[in-house]
Amino acid sequence: MARAKKVVLAYSGGVDTSVCIPYLRNEWGVEEVITFAADLGQGDELEPIRLKALAAGASQSLVGDLVQPFIEGFAFPAIRANALYQGRYPLSTALARPLIAERLVAIAREVGADGVAHGCTGKGNDQVRFDVAIGALAPDLTVLTPAREWGMSREETIAYGERHGIPSPVSKGSPYSIDLNLLGRSIEAGPLEDPNVEPPEEVYALTVAVDQAPDQPETVTIGFERGNPVSLDGERLDPVSLVRRANALAGRHGFGRLDMVEDRVVGIKSREIYETPGLLLLIRAHQELESLTVPADVLRTKRQLEMQWADLVYQGLWFGALKDAIDGFMDRSQQTVNGSVRMKLHKGNAIAVGRSSATDSLYVPDMATYGAEDRFDHRAAEGFIYVWGLPTRLSAAVRRQGG
Ligand code: ARG
Repeated sequence: MARAKKVVLAYSGGVDTSVCIPYLRNEWGVEEVITFAADLGQGDELEPIRLKALAAGASQSLVGDLVQPFIEGFAFPAIRANALYQGRYPLSTALARPLIAERLVAIAREVGADGVAHGCTGKGNDQVRFDVAIGALAPDLTVLTPAREWGMSREETIAYGERHGIPSPVSKGSPYSIDLNLLGRSIEAGPLEDPNVEPPEEVYALTVAVDQAPDQPETVTIGFERGNPVSLDGERLDPVSLVRRANALAGRHGFGRLDMVEDRVVGIKSREIYETPGLLLLIRAHQELESLTVPADVLRTKRQLEMQWADLVYQGLWFGALKDAIDGFMDRSQQTVNGSVRMKLHKGNAIAVGRSSATDSLYVPDMATYGAEDRFDHRAAEGFIYVWGLPTRLSAAVRRQGG
């Protein structure tokens, strides 16, 4: 029994998604498989990937440039939210999934498909993100997930592909599982599965090792408007070019590597290596500008909501009501985040060395100064502290008496 007749498959050109094509047709009776490969700035040639899908039996092979919506609609909100899953991972992979899901659904509508498919396994986060997003956007479409069900080992998958005209991967060498887009790279598996083993230098591609980084520091001024990065060193750049430049700059100074054990949605801990040079640089600079331009109480609440925002995106709830509601807070909080931050890059570090805002700085010099211009009423502190410390003094006294 066919689960769907006409299916749009998220396609990367790798073995797993390639094998999905004959598998869907031969094992699950799907009549037509239409593939979609997304350009997310990963730098792959998409034409060979497009042809590969046709060779594997796709009836139509589509490619789409999603770089600009990816950066504007997904990366920039993450920067505004200073989104770091478990305080560290800036969600470079996670952010792409709801966008791909959106496109899959749109294509399914255009071609009149009754299903969408992806090649994610049953152990990862990406399956959760795709399935939840598709279910929210198009509950009528069947989601087909061959790799979650076929139970084939890597070798069996390759052998199955070879029987259906899919060449086995040329570089049998790489033991790593890699995901790549303009926001960064994630590297898993192989020797990295031992969390006690240092990652070999070969896993990195976007960042240099600290000992290879230049001895001379480099300082860049990052301009923001309403929390969005808009310029580097005074030059106004479109969002995609800005992220590209930030990647190159931070990468050549060895900034943006991450080696962590993270908690997946499905309950397991996994060891992950990331390189997200530009995104981490922009988040750091953004945090710095917020410290100058956002009132303390808003900032305190925002820091809590940021964690929640990152969790929601990591856990596949991009299209959920809570994420939407928090977005409302985030947008409002960014109205004053205008100005610029100077970041110094040196030997694996990115350090803020200056911040300014002509319109929204809350830093009031004659309040902050220890000099003669001081306008702060020092005597007023006494009454404030009397009231502020009252409950602490009272409870301490009671405890003392109680012995
Ligand atoms: N652990 C990261 C995340 O969940 C990276 C996932 C990489 N995905 C992949 N298919 N290789 O966002």
